[in-house]
Amino acid sequence: MAEPLPVNVTEYESLARDRIEPGAWGYIAGGANDEISLTRNVTAFRRLELLPRVLVDVTSVDTSVTLLGRSLATPVLIAPTGFQTLAHPDGEHATARAAAAAGTIMVLSTMSAFTIEEVSSAAPGPKWFQLYCYRDRSVTQRLVERAEAAGHEAICVTVDLPRVGRRERDVRSAFELPAAAQPRNFDGLIEQDAANADLEFSDYIATLVDPSLTWEILAWLRTITSLPIILKGVHHPDDAALAVEHGVEGLIVSNHGGRQLDGVPATIDMLPAIVDAVRGAAAVLLDGGIRRGTDVAKALALGADAVLIGRPMVWGLVVDGADGVRHVLDLLRDELELAMALLGCRSIAELGPHVIRPRP
Ligand code: FNR
Repeated sequence: MAEPLPVNVTEYESLARDRIEPGAWGYIAGGANDEISLTRNVTAFRRLELLPRVLVDVTSVDTSVTLLGRSLATPVLIAPTGFQTLAHPDGEHATARAAAAAGTIMVLSTMSAFTIEEVSSAAPGPKWFQLYCYRDRSVTQRLVERAEAAGHEAICVTVDLPRVGRRERDVRSAFELPAAAQPRNFDGLIEQDAANADLEFSDYIATLVDPSLTWEILAWLRTITSLPIILKGVHHPDDAALAVEHGVEGLIVSNHGGRQLDGVPATIDMLPAIVDAVRGAAAVLLDGGIRRGTDVAKALALGADAVLIGRPMVWGLVVDGADGVRHVLDLLRDELELAMALLGCRSIAELGPHVIRPRP
């Protein structure tokens, strides 16, 4: 008899934990230091209450959204996560197929275990390229040009990783990337120094990112690409205002899933101030701690245009490859649709501040 499908995203987490090697699990599950912000991202959603309106005709409820001119069946996007072959041999290929089937965007990590070109040929759905700026700008330029040539529709620059947060699970397990999960986009672009093999994981990743980035990077990116630019990893309302001044098309309120600076607030707690600072001048997305369709509803009610999932996608990938990721996306979409019906909201536009409040 076939195993019953998990009924929610958290069940995928338990199944995934049992099916993967402990070091890889620590890399996926872990956050920085005491994992305070990792936990906060999840628990902060529970402090928010939903306020349903009744006697609204909800015969038909529409979860579709339009983001940067592209219509999507669901407001839940796939966040960039590196080295997806750690989770499943099909890695980013499986994720791309699931995202395309679910009618959403996959954000492909710079640190993918298949190349930009390979992932684009695996599935035709819409993609954004997540950019870690390499120290040598000509290498960074090449990555952006390749993403554009492969049909990516936006460049999503991650700005919260001038250095890698100290993820103590990885230190404890002496985590190293296996040969089947290496950052393949740099093949032929940089010399992978044999000395790197001896580095601690975070130090190795540090060799691949530029710690000297400033706001100047945005003007430079405009000289090499005409794609929309999204800043990922904005946490401070003043940075959101600066991002708007610099003309970004979107930003992602994110603390890297609690993997960078421990002690920062939950992303959902920063969202209202950031939405205020942006004043509609750019798309505002959020990631961190989304585990339920009601979490998606709460983020949208507080002004996010869409959300992204990191770990829940990886859990689906571990458990059942592309089908697992697709099922995780479907579960969240279905839960969101039900929550909208019970809230009396027929469209994403109707999800507003009137349906949410902090728990008194
Ligand atoms: C990440 N994240 C991440 N972000 C990024 O910009 N580039 C990357 O390569 C990665 N890699 C990565 C690997 C793994 C295993 C995790 C868990 C996360 C961060 C990711 O995009 C996102 O911000 C968080 O995962 C969101 O939080 P949740 O959904 O995991 O709670």
